This record gives sequence, structure tokens and C-alpha cells, in this order.
Amino acid sequence: MPNNAVLKLGDKELTYPVIVGSEGEKAIDLRNLRADTGHITYDEGYGNTGSCESAITYIDGDAGILRYRGYPIEQLAEKSDFIETAFLVIYGELPTAEQRARFSALLTEHAPIHERMVYLFESYPRDAHPMALLGAMMNALSCYYPALATNDHKRDLENFDVAAAMALSKVRTITAITYRMSRGLPVIYPKRAFKYCENFMHMMFSDPYEHFDCPPVVARALNLILLLHADHEQNCSTSSVRMVASSGANLFASCAAGICALWGPLHGGANQAVIQMLEEIHATGDDGSKFIASAKAGKSRLMGFGHRVYKNYDPRAKIIGKACEDLLNTLGIKDPLLDIARHLEQAALSDNYFIDRKLYPNVDFYSGIMMRAIGIPINMFTVMFAIGRMPGWISNWKEVASNPKGRIYRPRQIYTGKTVRDYVPVDKRG
Ligand code: SDX
Repeated sequence: MPNNAVLKLGDKELTYPVIVGSEGEKAIDLRNLRADTGHITYDEGYGNTGSCESAITYIDGDAGILRYRGYPIEQLAEKSDFIETAFLVIYGELPTAEQRARFSALLTEHAPIHERMVYLFESYPRDAHPMALLGAMMNALSCYYPALATNDHKRDLENFDVAAAMALSKVRTITAITYRMSRGLPVIYPKRAFKYCENFMHMMFSDPYEHFDCPPVVARALNLILLLHADHEQNCSTSSVRMVASSGANLFASCAAGICALWGPLHGGANQAVIQMLEEIHATGDDGSKFIASAKAGKSRLMGFGHRVYKNYDPRAKIIGKACEDLLNTLGIKDPLLDIARHLEQAALSDNYFIDRKLYPNVDFYSGIMMRAIGIPINMFTVMFAIGRMPGWISNWKEVASNPKGRIYRPRQIYTGKTVRDYVPVDKRG
């Protein structure tokens, strides 16, 4: 493969270097294209455009490979847990026992939110979507902890460890308070003795008079769900975090942007949309065959299927599909939605419409069934995705903030509006 690309444009012939990543992926470096030719590239949806260099996560969409800092997702899913993986994604290496203890201590210390913040929740309607509150409250952290959110990246990086621990720990607390407030239940405070997932389930489901004891199998399931969501290259929400961070914005504001981007049904909102789709199929008595036909006719979308990068099975979907089956068997739950999901998967994997378009189950296809089994309400599924993705957003913010050659992200456009014209007085319009 040549180490440069030659572009012929009119009577010009220009050469651009080819950049090769550590896993051999290649990019043509077109940073001088506009200066050289007056042309920009056009790539709506950025399917062919690299926005940055990053050392956090590697995906091979054709081979169905996902690695965090070089470690295969299959090994992390089997041997690690969410907090160890979060440390790896954020700091680049698996933590030593001492580093793990220090990281966990920071997460414990920063689990509670500022007491004045609890009153913010009161101003929201009871039925407000939890993602709306999460985005608002994540941004509000910059008001309650301004010293960690100065919008001076040099200073914010000096406080990065605490800010990162705050974002990762408080995202859980904010989620639990949102849930409790939406049901008129008293706020349950975190316990210092509990681990990350157990503390979350405690804050969600304990009562002042009765402690919720999280079964180990449920804690393990939650660890796996969050671990599998920890990072995923330059997806829509992570790119949004980097975009906002590139302006010099603080960690909390940048993660709030990620939360807002994740909310969309084509992205993080898909796990909620999958359950709604399965429930609708179940309600009609369809085993999924009619729905497949409707998706092929373009009348519906098989939510939880397809991916911009994976043109093979999403490795996370394989792991979570098996874990979902194991969890339901362990809990003795017979969920008809799982049977419908399995039927949809089998039908789609043998149907040319899906095969030709390389549409396979993605991480969202089974995650909702698993979250439902551990008691997470459906309207909080996307919030769970956000909790899982926090390490990736935090790590990508850090990459942008610590890049000495970093520039503000400012894509170009092709203008298709009106050409120049003169002002028309109001009595001459219409
Ligand atoms: C996530 O980017 C990431 O990494 C995201 C994520 C992460 O970890 O951050 O992996 C998390 O967002 C997973 C994706 C969750 N979304 C869904 O499950 C929603 C359903 N899937 C799609 O809407 C779609 O597949 C996308 C959005 C995921 C990808 O869209 P693309 O790459 O823009 O593909 P497309 O819309 O251009 O579709 C190509 C063709 C079209 O058919 P034709 O026009 O060629 O006839 O495939 C069809 C689409 O109609 N198609 C589907 C389909 N997805 C694509 N048809 C039926 N059901 C689907 N799910």
C-alpha cells in the first residue's frame, strides 16, 4: 500500500500522506486540501472521515473486534468488572491493587451530590424523561464544583482525577435520585461500604426502613452491562463530547453534551426502543415474522439491529445475549420478549434483506431484556447506557484537553441556500 495518495484535480496533481494507525487502519491526511485546492471533502455522517487520532478503543467492524486499550472485550467481560475497566479506559492501563483501591476510595468519597442539588430535581415534572434530568444535572455539577470546571484545560487537568471520579460516581447518584423522585420516594443516600453497582441498586431500591440487598448475580449482570458500554470509538455521543471539549469546555459540560446526543433513538435510545418494539410484537401475538416483513418493506426499523461500523456481529451483542439467557435462567424468569428477540435474530440472520445490508444485532438488542430482569425501569435504559459510557466520555475529554496541538473542531459545509440578494422593505414583500 503506498504511503501517500495522489489527487488529480483539473491540471493539478497533488500528493497527500497516508497515516497508518497501530492496527494498520489507513487515512489520507487531507488537512491541507482546502489550502491547496479550494475544495473541501464532503462526507455526510462522517462514515469515511476520521476526526481525530485516539489511543483508547479499537474496533474492526468487519471482523467484529472491540478492544479497550488493546484488551479484547471478551477477556474483559469474563475477567474484569466495570470499575477496573473504567480505570483502564480512562488511564490506559489495568490498575494495580493500590491504584484500584485509590480509585475506589475516590468514587466512594464523591458518590453523594451537593445537598442543594437535590432541590433542583423538585423543579422537574415527575414524568420528565430521565435523560433530560441527567444531562441537566451533569452540567449543573460545574455550578456546584466550579473549581473543577474552570474551562481552562490546564487547570482542569490538574484536578482531573477528582473531576473524573465525580462524574463517574455521581452519574449513578443522579440516576437514582431521578428514579426515586419520579415515584415520590425518599432519596436514599449512598453507603460508603458498598461497591459501585451494589451502591447504585441500594440507592435505587432500598427504603429508609428496609435495605435492598443486591443479589450477587444481579451485581455481576450490571457490571457486565456497564463494562460492555464503557467506550466505542468516535460514536455520535463521544464525538459530541470531543466537539464540546475542543472549545476548551470543562469535563461536566462536555459529558452533558454526550448525554444529550446519546438520548436519540438511533443511538443510545435504541435499548428502550427495542423493548417497546418487542412489547408491540408480543401484544399483537406476532412471533416476529410479520414485523420482519414490515422492516423489509421499510415500514419499520428492527431496533437493536444494524451498525455504522459493525458489518459483522457486534461482539458485545454476542456476550450480552448469552449473559441475558444465563441471568433469566438463574433468576427463574421466563420472559416472552426474549423468545421473540431470539426468533427475530434467527429470522433476520437468514434473510437476504438483512444479510445484504450486513445488519446484525448490536449491543442494544438484548441489553434491555437484561435490565428489565434486574428491575431497571424501561425509561431509564438509556440512562444506564450513559452510566456505562461515562469512562469513554471522560477518557476522550482527557485526550482532547491534553492534546498540546489540539484545535477547536470546526467542520466545513457545502452551502445550498439562496445566492446573494438585496433587502426587501416589508411593504414590498408577500
Ligand atoms: C449504538 O456508533 C456507535 O458505535 C454506536 C453504539 C455505541 O456503542 O456508541 O454502538 C451504540 O448506537 C448502536 C446502534 C443502536 N441503534 C439502533 O439499533 C437503531 C436501529 N439501527 C439503525 O437505525 C441503523 O442501523 C444505525 C443507525 C445503527 C446505522 O445506520 P446507518 O449506518 O446510517 O445505516 P443506514 O440507516 O444508512 O441503513 C443502510 C440500509 C438502509 O436500507 P436501504 O436504504 O439501503 O434500502 O440498511 C437499512 C436502511 O433502511 N437498515 C435497517 C436497519 N438499519 C439499517 N433496516 C431495518 N432495520 C434496521 N435496524
